[in-house]
Amino acid sequence: MFYDDSMHSIPAILAFSSAEFESKLQLALSLTDEVQIDIMDGQFVENTTIQLADIVSLPKSGIYEAHLMVVDPVAVMPEIVRLEITRVVVHIESDNVAVAIERYKHRGIAVYLGINPGTGVEKLHPYITQIDGVLVMTVIPGFGGQELIPEALDKVRVLKREFPNLVIEVDGGVTHNTIHAVKDAGADAAVIGGAILKAADPKKSFEDLSRV
Ligand code: DX5
Repeated sequence: MFYDDSMHSIPAILAFSSAEFESKLQLALSLTDEVQIDIMDGQFVENTTIQLADIVSLPKSGIYEAHLMVVDPVAVMPEIVRLEITRVVVHIESDNVAVAIERYKHRGIAVYLGINPGTGVEKLHPYITQIDGVLVMTVIPGFGGQELIPEALDKVRVLKREFPNLVIEVDGGVTHNTIHAVKDAGADAAVIGGAILKAADPKKSFEDLSRV
C-alpha cells in the first residue's frame, strides 16, 4: 500500500429536499469527485434527510459514499445498487451488520463501518478483516454544524496502531480549527459538511482543508 501522509477532504451532503440535494451535489462535484451522501431515516438518528429513493440518478463522474444512518442498512441496498454507489458506511450500531457487510461486499461495493462517539472500538473487531475502512464519528450523528468531540480522535490513533492498513475517515465538526488535530490523529480522510458547503468561499475552503 502506498503510504502517503496527506489527508484528503470529502464534502458531506446533508440535504432535506431534492432541490437542496441537487444544489449541494453540484457544488461538491465542482470542487472534487469524491462526495459523501448523508442518509438519515429519522429512527437511527433523530433527523430525516432525503432518502435514496428520492435521488433520480447521480452523475457518473462522481465517486459516492453513502453514509447509512439507518436502522437497517440491508433494506436500502436496492437503491444503492440502482444509483451505482460504490461505497457505503454501515454503522456498527445498526441492525443486520454482518448480513450488510456480506451482501454489499458480494456486490463489489466497499464497506466502511461507522462508529459513534459512545461506541468502543472493540465492537469493530469481529468485522475488521471483512471491511474496507472505518468512519470514526466525531459528533453524535444526526446534524451538521456540531462541535468535534476530541476524545473520539483517540479511536483513530488506536485503530491506526492496531490496523495500519485500514482506511480511517473522520466525520463531524471538522473545520479549519479542528482539521490539524484530525490529521495528527492519523486519519486518511476528513468528511466535511458546513466548513466547505456553507463557507463564504467553498472552493477556497475545500482547497485549504485539502492541503493540511
Ligand atoms: C452528521 C453527518 C456529518 C455532518 C458533517 O450526522 O454524518 O456528515 O453532515 O457536517 P459538519 O462537517 O458540518 O459537522
